[in-house]
Amino acid sequence: MAVGSVEPRLIIRGGRRLSGTIAVSGAKNSALKLMAASLLTSGVGVLHNVPDIQDVRTMQEVLEYLGAAVTFEEGTMQVDTTEVQSHVAPYDLVQRMRASIQIMGPLVARFGRARVAMPGGCNLGPRKIDIHLRGLAEMGGVVRSDHGFVEVTAEKLRATNIFLDYPSVGATENLLMAAVLAEGTTVLENAAREPEIVDLCKFLVSMGADIEGAGSSTLRVNGVEEMRPAEHTVLGDRIEAGTFLIAGAVTGGDVEVIGIGPHVLELFLFKLRSVGVQVQENSRSIRASGDPSSYTAADVATLPYPGFPTDLQAQMMVLLSIAKGVSVVTENVFESRFGFVDELIRLGAEIRVDGNHAVITGDRSLTGAIVRCPDLRAAAALATAGLAAEGCTELREVQHLDRGYERFEEKLQSLGAEVERTGVRPGTCGSL
Ligand code: UD1
Repeated sequence: MAVGSVEPRLIIRGGRRLSGTIAVSGAKNSALKLMAASLLTSGVGVLHNVPDIQDVRTMQEVLEYLGAAVTFEEGTMQVDTTEVQSHVAPYDLVQRMRASIQIMGPLVARFGRARVAMPGGCNLGPRKIDIHLRGLAEMGGVVRSDHGFVEVTAEKLRATNIFLDYPSVGATENLLMAAVLAEGTTVLENAAREPEIVDLCKFLVSMGADIEGAGSSTLRVNGVEEMRPAEHTVLGDRIEAGTFLIAGAVTGGDVEVIGIGPHVLELFLFKLRSVGVQVQENSRSIRASGDPSSYTAADVATLPYPGFPTDLQAQMMVLLSIAKGVSVVTENVFESRFGFVDELIRLGAEIRVDGNHAVITGDRSLTGAIVRCPDLRAAAALATAGLAAEGCTELREVQHLDRGYERFEEKLQSLGAEVERTGVRPGTCGSL
């Protein structure tokens, strides 16, 4: 942050019951990959329901850096890839957003070459790309690394059977996008099954790809000669939906999210119910309400889809902090995803972390404090805790929130929350 610049903060006055309906935005984790997929052909692709969030703006910069012309207005993005010539994603962009590496598959498939800065560590622990690279190598790509970049070249990728060591979301998507133009039938085994991957498959099929098994752990991709631009509407953001449902539940409120089917949050909703939250659902909306004094503990273990989403783990910890009893949360997807726990403790939670387990002693009354956000989902969780806390909470480093939530405080305000964004102003939370 430059000297003299204003660091945005959120000021939350907790204790308000949230109630009402919000429309979820398009899914960040789908929109970013659909944007990357547009590189697979020349021409103008159109995406609707694209969330206006920082990560989407960063992916826009990546595409523009490669030579694409992008317009983005009121949720509709047009990506014209006619002039794309570069095959390089520089460090500054990849470091700002790891999902920049998703251009690798499409670029190798279309141009035979991709050079992408290595993402390095991030605040969720080391995040490797070995599964992406091994898959591309098995398809005939030559992988080299120098000067902090990894470069993959291949005159023509060839189809093969690839067994992923782990159902990595990013690797599945990169290999899927590489395979659509490869010669023959590529089979991806132990592929990730996230709804955002199904969305990507739908988009690729509308671009001319031939894919079987979307949503299962075996994807069969029959390579085609060429792809064409297509138009697609991004599916709703299940993580945003889950975040708002928890915000409703921890404040003893009644919140409905629309624009999302309950099947994409099945295990999450099961856990909400087992805590004592009342959940009603229909095909396009989910509603959660409840009385926090009746909530009880639950154990949660994050896993690849359809397991409990790691991106809702931090928010769930807030709910478990106010539920009666002792809960155990096990993080199986990322190595360092408890970085926010010390901040949550500052708000009054009682949590002990041991390796990838967190033991939460619930029935705590949270009280407002100054906290800093270590990452995107932690920021959402700390905001949720602030809504449930008595008094004022000052959330610092909220730029993390802006990476993934569209109009976050505006949506909360529409549910009755007392939340505002501010620059550095001493005493915004009184004497904290
Ligand atoms: C995506 C999501 C992220 C979500 C995650 C898991 C986007 C932009 N991000 O991240 O929000 O939390 O899925 O649902 O869609 N791994 C390796 N080698 C690899 C690839 C991954 O060891 O080559 C490891 C990672 O270090 C991590 C785990 O696998 O520990 C999961 O990573 P992955 O499923 O690839 O997640 P992302 O695609 O990075």
